[in-house]
Amino acid sequence: MNREKFYITTPIYYPSDKLHIGHAYCTVATDAMARYKRLQGCEVMFLTGTDEHGQKIEDKAKSAGVTPQQFVDNIVTAPGGVLDLWKLMNISYDRFIRTTDGYHVRAIQKIFKKMYDNGDIYKGTYKGKYCKDCEAFWTETQLADGKCPDCGREVQDAEEEAYFFRLSKYAGRVQDLLENTDFLEPRSRVHEMVNNFIKPGLEDLCVSRTSFTWGVPVDFDPGHVVYVWIDALFNYMTALGYMNGEHHDLEKFWPADVHFVGKEIVRFHSIIWPAMLMSVGAPLPRKVFGHGWLLLDGGKMSKSKGNVVDPYLLSERYGVDALRFFLMRTFPFGSDGNFSNELLIQTINKDLANDLGNLVSRTTAMAGKYFGGVLPEEQRFDEAMDDELVKMAGALRGRYEDAMEHYAMHKALDEVFQVIQRANKYIDENKPWLLAKSPEDRPRLACVLYNLLETTRICGVLLTPFMPGSMDKLFDQIGADGALRTWESAARWAALPRSVSVHKGENLFPRIDMEKELKELEQAAVQKSAPPAEEKPPEYITIDDFDKVKFVTAKILACDAVPKSKKLLRFTLDCGEAQPRQILSGIHEYYEPEQLLGKTVVACVNLAPRKMMGLESNGMLISAVKEQPDGTEKLHLLMLDDGVPAGYGLC
Ligand code: MSP
Repeated sequence: MNREKFYITTPIYYPSDKLHIGHAYCTVATDAMARYKRLQGCEVMFLTGTDEHGQKIEDKAKSAGVTPQQFVDNIVTAPGGVLDLWKLMNISYDRFIRTTDGYHVRAIQKIFKKMYDNGDIYKGTYKGKYCKDCEAFWTETQLADGKCPDCGREVQDAEEEAYFFRLSKYAGRVQDLLENTDFLEPRSRVHEMVNNFIKPGLEDLCVSRTSFTWGVPVDFDPGHVVYVWIDALFNYMTALGYMNGEHHDLEKFWPADVHFVGKEIVRFHSIIWPAMLMSVGAPLPRKVFGHGWLLLDGGKMSKSKGNVVDPYLLSERYGVDALRFFLMRTFPFGSDGNFSNELLIQTINKDLANDLGNLVSRTTAMAGKYFGGVLPEEQRFDEAMDDELVKMAGALRGRYEDAMEHYAMHKALDEVFQVIQRANKYIDENKPWLLAKSPEDRPRLACVLYNLLETTRICGVLLTPFMPGSMDKLFDQIGADGALRTWESAARWAALPRSVSVHKGENLFPRIDMEKELKELEQAAVQKSAPPAEEKPPEYITIDDFDKVKFVTAKILACDAVPKSKKLLRFTLDCGEAQPRQILSGIHEYYEPEQLLGKTVVACVNLAPRKMMGLESNGMLISAVKEQPDGTEKLHLLMLDDGVPAGYGLC
């Protein structure tokens, strides 16, 4: 038995929105590869996870009124979240990493320091555009019509102290890796990387930010957080135990055999990632495979365009296996593919209901009808009639393996379906219903049915990585027990006992009425994407909810402006506690610090602590705010009569 190790990864997902079918595409492909390798007997490590830091998450959490951690938890672990989707889709990952996991955070700090100590990370100045209102830095290319891409307001030239990685130093070695090895596939992506990014000159990469705080802090320079891509890429190694004691599989599984990644992130994986690994002196992954996108109406699916396809909805309607199969069967893995409901239904009807489903149901029905479900030992082979099918099915595993080893999953499936189609033709050629009419043809009839069952079994084994649940049911119907479901047995014609007993079971893949289904799908999508109903009841909270928020009166002991921030003021407050409390508040444009000294204000003191510009804020000051007709906001910090003592609760 093959005892090789195989380490495969998917990109770790940004939990900024719910996942759509495009995300599921890569994970299903990775799962099929992982299952195929396990079937072969390899010891597999399949890693997936979530990439949870960065300004986008921080901003979204802010608008949702929750902490960034609560925000990501809600998308990753809450019911209906990422973990649930992978469970539903039968994704057999071996490890799930979240970049907010403590061990990963600490490892990233060590990795950053290591690159700083070896001189590959240095401090410099990041020049860009600054949006005062969003407190965000942008590069020229990120701007939307020269304005802030988030709020649409004017931006100004700005400079920020930042750390840089000496990417330029590794340009030659990375170019050599891309051009002279098969590190990156498909090959077309190599030219794109070399011509568009390396040849024009690789610049050093800005790898820290001070304009937001939701990231891994640079421990030797507070106020800086590590650039999210450094944090994210190293997940592939920290999840095995690199620079941490949480896991211990680095020696066993690193370097990775393959990283599956979408085409838009090939640049990060094939240029920045190897350069960083060269910097820390770690072996490089064996391969990066850049797959294409699932498109909708020719364009990329995205939440903002409102054209995402919901994998939950499709799995519910057609079954997880049919959906997994469609994704892998229809689109060559390296190219883009246009998703449509018609194509999905067509594929299910043609390949699964007609070709595979019919083969299984006709064969098991005939075995039941003519032999009571148990084939007789006596069978008559007919070389002229049988040879082609037997040879085709017997040699299928080799052709399938060849395609799978090149990550051509759709080609592997095509090989299987050519055999399935040949088997259906074999039924028509041999006309078992005529053989059944004369007693002397019974051995021949038994042999025809045996050949069909054996072909189905071999195809079933090779389809298992794509449709694990359905293939188990198929094996039960054709009487193939555990030993007949293995990789070895898929290369052995006539492994099934001659006197096999079969059971006609449920229809594995029912045919779908296209017209009716398309109508219903449209309705389901409209219902799902309909804006929240106008008559939505007001969202009441209970008195218990209200009681959870702890407001106290507070005296301002000190107040100063946070360096480099246009908005933030830092307050030191007497809240009637043993120690003064520090709270940051973005109200500098309304007040100067000296106006506020000694005032009595209201603070919420049980809000989770949060870092802003490297400083911890332990609560929130309460203000009265109103949007003005010109779109600006007016704000008044709630101030109480100075006679009110500090530390009183509000009720
Ligand atoms: N967090 C980064 C990856 C870091 S890996 C160290 C990221 N996340 S993502 O959630 O935006 O995307 C995850 C993967 O989903 C990417 O490989 C991306 O290409 C893939 N897809 C997102 N939409 C897709 C389609 N419509 N079609 C196919 N894949 C698509 O990038």
